[in-house]
Amino acid sequence: MRTVVTLEDLRRARAALPAPLGLVPTMGYLHEGHLSLVRRARTECASVAVSIFVNPTQFGPSEDLASYPRDLDRDLRLLAAENVDLVWAPTSETMYPAGFQTWITVEEVTQPLEGSMRPGHFRGVATVVAKLFNGVQPHKAYFGQKDAQQAVVIGQMARDLDFPVEIVVCPTVRETDGLAMSSRNAYLSPEERRAATVLYRGLEAARAAYVSGEREAERLRGIVRDKVASEPLARLQYVSCAHADTLEELEKVAGRALLSLAAFVGRTRLIDNLILEETDQDHG
Ligand code: PAJ
Repeated sequence: MRTVVTLEDLRRARAALPAPLGLVPTMGYLHEGHLSLVRRARTECASVAVSIFVNPTQFGPSEDLASYPRDLDRDLRLLAAENVDLVWAPTSETMYPAGFQTWITVEEVTQPLEGSMRPGHFRGVATVVAKLFNGVQPHKAYFGQKDAQQAVVIGQMARDLDFPVEIVVCPTVRETDGLAMSSRNAYLSPEERRAATVLYRGLEAARAAYVSGEREAERLRGIVRDKVASEPLARLQYVSCAHADTLEELEKVAGRALLSLAAFVGRTRLIDNLILEETDQDHG
C-alpha cells in the first residue's frame, strides 16, 4: 500500500495502477461502515484508492472541525489489512492553497434536510469531492447510504458536470443494536450511546407501519417523532419522508421514499435514514 500526500506523488502513483480504479473518499477515523465501502470496491475494481481528508469547508463555524476524531496510523493499518493500493492523505494547504476561490454549488437537492440545517455544508462536500475525483480520476466511487443526501448530491454533481465516474451507493452498516456506525458515535457517553438507539428504533417503527400498509407520509413522520420523544436524552431536529431522488417531501408514499432524521443525543448530532420501497423490505 502506497500512502501519498502531495498531488504530484498522487498523480505518479495513480498512473501505475491497473484499471478499473475505485475510490473511497473518507474523513478518516475509519470504522466498519467505511471498510464496507473499501471491501465493495475491492470486489469490483482492479485497484482501490482511499482518500483521508477532514475537509474544513464542509464544517460550519459552530461545528466540530477542531474536535473531529483523527487517528491516521490506525486508519493506515486498517486499510493495509484490506489490501488497499493507494491512500491519499492531502494537507489543507494542498486542497485549499492561498487564493482558492472556486466552488461547486449543487442547487435543488442541497436545499432541504441537512442542507437547511448546515448552510454551506454541501458546497464544501461537492467542491472537495470534485477535487478528489480530479486528483484520483477513479472509474468508480463509493459512498454510504448513511449519508443519503450526500450520495444524492454527489450523483447529481457527477451527472451535471460529466465526471467520468460511476457513483456506487452502499448500505448503511449498523452496530448490533441498530445504531448506524459513525465516527461521531465516539462523542457519546455510555448513557447517550444507549439512548442513541432510539433513532433507528423510530425509523424501524415507521417502517413496520409502512409494511402494514401505511402510506400517509405525515403518519410515518409522526411515528418517528413519538418514538424519539420517548427518549429524554434525544432531541429530534427534523424527520423527513421524501422522494428518494428529488428529496421533495411527500404526502403519500409511492415508489422509493427516503425516511430520514437528524437528532441531538446530548450534544452530539446524529443522522440516520431508511429507504421505503414496495419491492423489498431490506434495511436501507
Ligand atoms: P465520512 O463521514 O468519513 O464518510 C466516508 C464515507 O463512508 C461516506 O460515503 C459515508 O456515507 C460512508 N459511511 C459512513 N458511515 C457509514 C455507515 N455506517 N455505513 C455505510 N457507509 C458509511 O462523508 C464523508 O466522510 C465526507 O463528507 C466526504 C464524502 C469524504 C467528503 O469530505
